[in-house]
Amino acid sequence: MSDWLTWDEQFVWHPYTQMQLVPRAIGVERAKGSYLYLSGGRKILDAISSWWVTLHGHAHPTIAKAIGEQAALLEQVIFAGFTHEPGATLAKKLVDITPEGLDKVFFSDNGSTAVEVALKMCVQYWKHQGEERTTFLALEHAYHGDTFGAMSASERGSFTEPFEHFLFGVKRLPFPTPPTESNAPLSSAEIRFLDSLREAVKQNKVAAFIYEPLLLGAGGMLTWRPQILEEALQIAKENNVLTIADEVLTGFGRTGTMFASEQAQRKPDVMTLSKGITGGFLPLGVTMASQRIFNAFLSDDRTRTFFHGHSYTGNPISAAASLASLKVWEEEPVKERIEAIANAHANIAPRLAERLGWKFRQIGTVAILEPQNSIGYLSGKSLEWGRMALEQGLLLRPLGDTVYLLPPYSTTPKDLEFAYQVISEVINL
Ligand SMILES: Cc1ncc(COP(=O)(O)O)c(C=O)c1O
Repeated sequence: MSDWLTWDEQFVWHPYTQMQLVPRAIGVERAKGSYLYLSGGRKILDAISSWWVTLHGHAHPTIAKAIGEQAALLEQVIFAGFTHEPGATLAKKLVDITPEGLDKVFFSDNGSTAVEVALKMCVQYWKHQGEERTTFLALEHAYHGDTFGAMSASERGSFTEPFEHFLFGVKRLPFPTPPTESNAPLSSAEIRFLDSLREAVKQNKVAAFIYEPLLLGAGGMLTWRPQILEEALQIAKENNVLTIADEVLTGFGRTGTMFASEQAQRKPDVMTLSKGITGGFLPLGVTMASQRIFNAFLSDDRTRTFFHGHSYTGNPISAAASLASLKVWEEEPVKERIEAIANAHANIAPRLAERLGWKFRQIGTVAILEPQNSIGYLSGKSLEWGRMALEQGLLLRPLGDTVYLLPPYSTTPKDLEFAYQVISEVINL
């Protein structure tokens, strides 16, 4: 075994890992496109975009080159009172490509910090209006990150249980599970969700409704319908409640449109982005806000400043990576790749689900297979199936017994055929 693998075992504490059950991490030497190359020479298909971040493929040359060039020019500079070309240009491009009404860009480091910023912005916005609004509305099964505010907005469960006393309460709204037929009228769960939202927005202390548009990720890869999102936005807006679309996972094409929020007419007041924003190369969080929110902070009074920032806020190399990723969108047939992935899922997965007697759902490039009576996140199947898939050359990370594919856009229909073949064998054993 290489020295560094021994050092890993001796010194590293890995995220979301029960170190007693999984003491040894898998060493990766390099990656290209949709494949990871392990120490020892094995090749693994990365069917989960390395925790949902890799967008156009690993080590994409356009992004790698831009990072190298930016690092040699300006690697980092304080972003309070200073700026630089990649940061300012990225802000302009993000305002151009995100839904209308998101006019200001606040940088941070990751998805959780983007959410913290969004929550703090909304609370302080209301304070500047002379209102003490302290309640957030959030969805059942939501996941918004691992910092305290993000955990508070997230569904309570084994991730948050040890910290329960420190989390602020939110009004939890029932998840709008869609009917089985996509064009069917409202399901009872959708009606329940809309009714509780209507009820909740009438309370006078509601600061904002935070939601993952159309796809809840870590909560079980649950999908919900655009028309329900539309109605929810209407209810919030009519009652002067701010809306925060957490697009950390759904942003940059995963659901078939550039942003999931595009699939509704009404737009959020705040949007969070991260993960795929740099093509999956470097950490970067973004919180976009409407002009109305930004304006509420403008004052001669310095106490009305938004007092939030991180050492690496607006890092030029991360911004350069993001710009390069957007260049790939312009120069390469990314939309066609997304379509090919979506079609391959739709062609292969339903037959497999039928054979297994499982449920299947899909949104854009994300395909989800789930047993009829799923037992949830702590099902031991996750580790077992993940290990077996890996032995056959496929990186999967089931959420409990929910198996999903969320591949980088470099993934071909042939790669997906292979992935489904492995899944079929692993689950059947
Ligand atoms: C919707 C959503 N929001 C926020 C986060 C947190 O992002 P990060 O892991 O970068 O802190 C995640 C991570 O999975 C997410 O899926």
